[in-house]
Formats: sequence, structure tokens, C-alpha cells
Amino acid sequence: MPIVGVINQKGGVGKTTTAINLAAALARQRRVLLVDLDPQANATSGIGLQGVANSVYDVLVGRSSARGAVVPSRVPQLDVLPATAELAGAALELDASAEDLRLLGKALTGVRPNYDFILLDAPPSFGALTLNALVAADHLLLPVQCEYYALEGIAGMLDTIDRVRGSLHGELNVLGMLLTMADHRTNLSQQVEANVRQHFGRLVFDSVIPRTVRLAEAPSYGLSIYDYAPTSSAAVAYTALAEEVIDRVSQA
Ligand SMILES: Nc1ncnc2c1ncn2[C@@H]1O[C@H](COP(=O)(O)OP(=O)(O)O)[C@@H](O)[C@H]1O
Ligand SMILES: [Mg+2]
Repeated sequence: MPIVGVINQKGGVGKTTTAINLAAALARQRRVLLVDLDPQANATSGIGLQGVANSVYDVLVGRSSARGAVVPSRVPQLDVLPATAELAGAALELDASAEDLRLLGKALTGVRPNYDFILLDAPPSFGALTLNALVAADHLLLPVQCEYYALEGIAGMLDTIDRVRGSLHGELNVLGMLLTMADHRTNLSQQVEANVRQHFGRLVFDSVIPRTVRLAEAPSYGLSIYDYAPTSSAAVAYTALAEEVIDRVSQA
């Protein structure tokens, strides 16, 4: 029952898009829980949930169990531990003590047996919420946008992961880096992909997520790519990614 954190401290690199659509891809063959750790709650609304009773904030502050906050989505086998804007409070209220950084991991132990995969959609920062994700996760998936500044920030992110490994969580595994928003018609995108592959080799997933307006449109209808544009190149790419994720997790 692996927990996979989708992490990058940069915003707009495709974390939430990947968390939603990888979760939907995995849910076609596994039981999946998607945990929304971003106060912007884009994963929650993007999968079609609104007006939730309890959120991950209630879980982190001890007002609800994880079981009491999880809700089913309209995708079979895909449940969500939703976020609300209230979660911004947790980012401030939680401190950097080991105890506070273990809150999410502890809370998830109660629901872990119900799922084959738990995916965490992290916010774009290295505050208490992302650190909770790093401590709770077994594996990390790092989306990297195919743009000029792609490599910027990756070194810092890998440093932070190393520090968490050294202090709080020795077993934390980087499952892979995922190239997102690739546009193979542009030289820039091809160069960035070649560059990232040259630097990081086999750490980079073979699957590449194409830039397509379908992926940007789907969340405004509360749908995953499989319900919005099932034959699109993006749906095919996330299906291939799900296979790679299943393979890598089983070999780790
Ligand atoms: N492959 C893609 N093709 C086109 N648009 C994308 C793609 N991936 C993400 N987007 C869009 O880019 C923006 C940022 O993506 P998002 O997944 O929210 O990033 P993050 O969670 O890292 O901030 C969103 O508007 C999203 O719809
Ligand atoms: Mg996001």
C-alpha cells in the first residue's frame, strides 16, 4: 500500500494535474486515495468535489479521523481526502517539530489498509504541509515542466529530500521525475527533455506528459482526463505513467 507524494516546490509544474490523472489511471485497476494537501484545493475541485464536510485540515488538527474525512469521487475506486482553504491555517499552525511533521503519516495509518495506492498532492512550497507529505510518503514523484528554467530548483528540492532522509525518514525513495507539458513541436521542449534525461538518467520516467488544452480544461468540469477526453494523448500518457509507477513501486 505505497504512499506516493507528488512534490515540487515550484507552482504550475503539473503536480495537481498529475495527482488527479495518475490517481484516475491507477483507479482503473487499484483502490486509490487522493489526498489534497494544497490550501488552493485544486485537486479537490478538479476531481469534482465541492462543499465537503471534513477536510485534511480537520484531520491534521485532530478534529476528524482520516476515515471520517474521506469521501468517494465519481470515479470508481477513487476516494479523496479533500482540502479546503482552511488548510492555509495548518501551514501556519504546524511547526517544524518532528511530532507535527508526522501528523499526516500517523493519520493515514488508519485508512492505509483500504487502498492499494495513496497519492499526495503537495502545495508549491517547503512549509509544514510539504514536509508532512515528505514524511508520510514512501515514494516521491517529481513533476518537471518542460521549460527553460526546468532544472532550476531541482537541486534544492533533492537537497531537502536528502535532509528529510537524514533526519526524519531514512526510507524515503525518489520514484522518478516526470516531464510535463512537453510540446514536441518546439526545439525548447526537446532540448529540455534531452537535458533532464542527460542529468538524471533512469530516474526520469519514460512516459512524458504532452502539453494539451484537454488537460487544462478537464478540471473545470470536475473530470479526470479519462472522463473528459479518454482517447486524448494525455489519457494515453497517464495510463503509461501508471504502469511505470506500478512497476517501479513493485521493484523498490
Ligand atoms: N500537460 C498539460 N498541458 C496543458 N496544461 C497543463 C498541463 N499540465 C498542467 N496544465 C495546466 O497548467 C496549470 C498548472 O498545472 P497544475 O497541475 O495546477 O500545477 P501545480 O499543481 O504544480 O501548481 C494548470 O492551469 C493546469 O491546468
Ligand atoms: Mg497544485
